[in-house]
Amino acid sequence: MAAKHLIDLSDLEQGKVNAIIDLACKIKENPQQYQDVCRGKIMATLFYEPSTRTQMSFKTAMLRLGGEVIGFDNPQNSSVSKGESLKDTIRIVGGYADIIVIRHPSEGCAKAAAYHSNVPLINAGDGGHLHPTQTLTDLVTLHLEKGTLENLTIGLCGDLKYGRTVHSLIKSMCRHHTKFILISTRELTVPQYLKDLMNASGCSYQEIYSLEEALPMLDVLYMTRIQGERFSSREEYERQKSVYVLDRRKMSLAKKDMVVLHPLPRVDEITDEVDEDPRAAYFRQAVNGMYARMALILTMLQDPQTGSSIHFNRVYPSIACTNPKCITQSEGYLPKSFSESGDMLVCDYCDQRILI
Ligand code: NCD
Repeated sequence: MAAKHLIDLSDLEQGKVNAIIDLACKIKENPQQYQDVCRGKIMATLFYEPSTRTQMSFKTAMLRLGGEVIGFDNPQNSSVSKGESLKDTIRIVGGYADIIVIRHPSEGCAKAAAYHSNVPLINAGDGGHLHPTQTLTDLVTLHLEKGTLENLTIGLCGDLKYGRTVHSLIKSMCRHHTKFILISTRELTVPQYLKDLMNASGCSYQEIYSLEEALPMLDVLYMTRIQGERFSSREEYERQKSVYVLDRRKMSLAKKDMVVLHPLPRVDEITDEVDEDPRAAYFRQAVNGMYARMALILTMLQDPQTGSSIHFNRVYPSIACTNPKCITQSEGYLPKSFSESGDMLVCDYCDQRILI
């Protein structure tokens, strides 16, 4: 039977997502009860991109469940530096480990890797595309901090173009009658496919430049870092950085029970003084990430039906994805597969739209 994978949190039915959130909360309340549940299991973490929280929380999660961890955090120390293809690396690691966690700078990489994996694989961030386990962390935190995921007004602020955490969160929150307030410069607004999704799901969204103007409306403020490493030029990054800074003065404009989230790391977008405000939940959020990942690993190992199998819509051998960061650019053997949407083709890996 083909393994099931977690590439995009919105591939899971809401009932399953709720069960994982509930399990994360139960584990948080009583971690000792779970300290042996993954005894004898091995998780491989393949990190082709820098990471502190995601990598360490995944590793700690598996260790706290009684399992073991192998992997690399610098591909230069692996056979990737000798030119090994992604599919060969995955095939080999799948022979060693019971579950694989992968982070990679190319968009659609997790889906491509999962296609070649005979064990469950989890997307820990694929370029500027998606970051489902951060979203799971965010959902656990919203559940704990706000008591509900329904009917919230959420402000997403900063790099909405390249911020994969924002993209995944929008996809998931579209299921909860969310009112989205998108706070960004014109250059860093969310990709069109997500605007289409918000419209199609019946959620409303408003694009706004001013954080001050947005703040009084919000139940949740999700701050993000400007993703310098994903810009095509340093000059463009310099123009965009430090536009949004949340400080104590701005916090005084917000509701008394607004919650501030941030996937972290922060650069300068939240001043240190905000950390003392009880509404600042980002350090609690980072801890929740470990419990969220414990719940996810345990669920995927215990119930192999959790997740989705990889299928491709239609292969167009002569059409290439136009996204220079798509995984199909570097791993030439991958089937060039797209779905049709009106007069567009949508890349099955990275969601890039191509006019036909
Ligand atoms: C985020 C990421 O890697 O996308 N960090 C994380 O996983 N907590 C956010 C970021 O790097 O800005």
